[in-house]
Amino acid sequence: MSYRLCVIPGDGIGPEVVPVAVRALQVLLPDLQVEHAEAGWACFQRCGQAVPEATLERMRVCGAGLFGAVSSPSQPVAGYRSAILTLRQTLGLNVNLRPVRSWPGVSPRDDVDLLILRENSEGLYSGPERMLDSGHAVAERHITASASEALAQRAVDVARMRGAERITLVHKANVLPLTCGLFRDRCRVVLAAAGLEDQVDESLVDVAALQLVAEPERFDLLLTTNLFGDILSDLACHWSGGLGMAPSLNWGQSIALAEPVHGSAPDIAGSGRANPLAAVLSAGLLLRYHWRQPALADQLEAAVGRVLALHAGKDLGTATLQQLERSLLRQLTHPQSD
Ligand code: NAD
Ligand code: IPM
Ligand code: MN
Repeated sequence: MSYRLCVIPGDGIGPEVVPVAVRALQVLLPDLQVEHAEAGWACFQRCGQAVPEATLERMRVCGAGLFGAVSSPSQPVAGYRSAILTLRQTLGLNVNLRPVRSWPGVSPRDDVDLLILRENSEGLYSGPERMLDSGHAVAERHITASASEALAQRAVDVARMRGAERITLVHKANVLPLTCGLFRDRCRVVLAAAGLEDQVDESLVDVAALQLVAEPERFDLLLTTNLFGDILSDLACHWSGGLGMAPSLNWGQSIALAEPVHGSAPDIAGSGRANPLAAVLSAGLLLRYHWRQPALADQLEAAVGRVLALHAGKDLGTATLQQLERSLLRQLTHPQSD
């Protein structure tokens, strides 16, 4: 099989962390064909488009991509929309997979291993906001049976792959019975049809947030809508060691785009202090879920684990990107060395 990867570094620390992940992948897949494309705020300022058509085309041709991060101004800018949202929606990347796990020596506890499956195409993200008048702004929340079912269908695959014992549907159906109720009910139908109904439970999103803090070990697979998943995944990645350790995979039917959960981190961009491991672990999700190479994904995660063990308690907080890269490439090429 030949592997093609479309690399989209983006803004801020994106161009710093992405090359580390590409070099790690190249060790594991020596024949990897790497192609480059651009997207993001700097791209918009340069050419007037946050996601040029050529980037979408390159993604479609490659089928797999690795994205760094984009910056988005908080005030509306005419013609600009966050590049990652355009990529997700245009390429049909309707599921966002965000694993959270303990890393010995780094995580505040050692028993967390959960996976958030976030709906990635609709909810509060799909409709444009609008002003009814100068004192009244409106956002619409769209939930469809088809997107909810597609998420649950992915959950069935993932549940089988990891032998999941519990699948928790997270919603707010007590206040939003139509939108959240539809989401919950369609997920339940798909999971029941796959024979998984005994594993399914549910939590309201407010209490789920508390449970993720107080008892993260109770979660295995967590399915939720777009904005809830955005917020809960930042919260939960505390258990992995923070945003610098949080990977994700935007996952469609035949295209996948790996992407660290973090943003462009303008406060540390250019300082050499960005942790590249979230990007590296995101590349690992491509190996595991898109290219279906679990043994290579295990190899990559084991190397990350050894890097962390070497730096934990000593200099992880102050280790530079370069030091972490050197250490990672050494672990990948000479697993027994220090
Ligand atoms: P952020 O994730 O960029 O940064 C939050 C904090 O985490 C910062 O203190 C940063 O230094 C730290 N951090 C993030 N990644 C790190 C890493 N790899 N290593 C070490 N520290 C790291 O979030 P923000 O500051 O709220 O947003 C900055 C910009 O990024 C905004 O324009 C926002 O819209 C954008 N953003 C983009 C994405 C994305 O592209 N997927 C995600 C979130 C935010
Ligand atoms: C993420 C980010 C994005 C989101 C932003 C940058 C649009 O926060 O990937 O988690 O809200 O989905
Ligand atoms: Mn986010």
